[in-house]
Amino acid sequence: MIRDSSKKTYIVMSTQTDTRKKITIRRLAEMKQAKEKIACLTAYDASFAHLLERAGVDVVLVGDSLGMVIQGEETTLPVSVEDMLYHTQCVAKGLDNALLITDMPFLSFTTVAEAVLNAGLFMKQGGAHMVKLEGGADQADTVSALSRNGIPVCAHLGLQPQYVHKIGGYRVQGRNQAAADKMVADALILQQAGADLMLLECVPEVLAARITETLDIPVIGIGASADCDGQVLVLYDILDISLGIRPKFSKNFMASANSIEQAIHHYVSAVKQGSFPATEHVFS
Ligand code: KIV
Repeated sequence: MIRDSSKKTYIVMSTQTDTRKKITIRRLAEMKQAKEKIACLTAYDASFAHLLERAGVDVVLVGDSLGMVIQGEETTLPVSVEDMLYHTQCVAKGLDNALLITDMPFLSFTTVAEAVLNAGLFMKQGGAHMVKLEGGADQADTVSALSRNGIPVCAHLGLQPQYVHKIGGYRVQGRNQAAADKMVADALILQQAGADLMLLECVPEVLAARITETLDIPVIGIGASADCDGQVLVLYDILDISLGIRPKFSKNFMASANSIEQAIHHYVSAVKQGSFPATEHVFS
């Protein structure tokens, strides 16, 4: 493989031109309107990022899941700003057109000033196009400050793995009426504060569909609903190489593929066609 740094493209065996348009927040909003599903996956390095780009993944997330799948930690909590910056820089080098989101790691946004500083690093030095942060309406001031400073935000509701010790494990969120109504209210507040995208993790199917319908911004689901505007999974889960048990909401796309590249292509096609997630990947 040869890297042509002047054009920021890779030449893999034969010359392959990428005619895809840049994915921007505007394009994602258009996709929601047009009911065109958004395919999102995590990546942590340039080589995988390039494979995702070639497979037509729209949004690439440098998730703090890297703590678990790259660093072998039990939770995402030990991940640092430096770790996120390093992996964002690696992934950015493998992408041409996909939108690149970086997760704000645990305790990297405890104040508005700290959030702007760290998110700014991911944008300025990392090449991220958006940051993602876990939290409900209590993060509205932070979302608003990031937005005012030109930093697009993906909010993250439902199961928030950075709160694992506070909630006592990895559990489906929003199962009772009060919790569901609160999540809808939080989603609206975060949208109003300037969030450009919403991620819903491990919420009942009906609630995920309700939030997707309610919000103007696109909603990406993981263990949520096929009715979300798009889907995200952890790359190593779909390739069946994650440590530990693969979560119910994920699917091993390697099982029916001859190569990693084909597995990623199958994932993108399944999301685009609406065949993933199936009933067994969502919660009632
Ligand atoms: O960190 C991550 O990879 C995530 C996904 C689970 C969406 O937040």
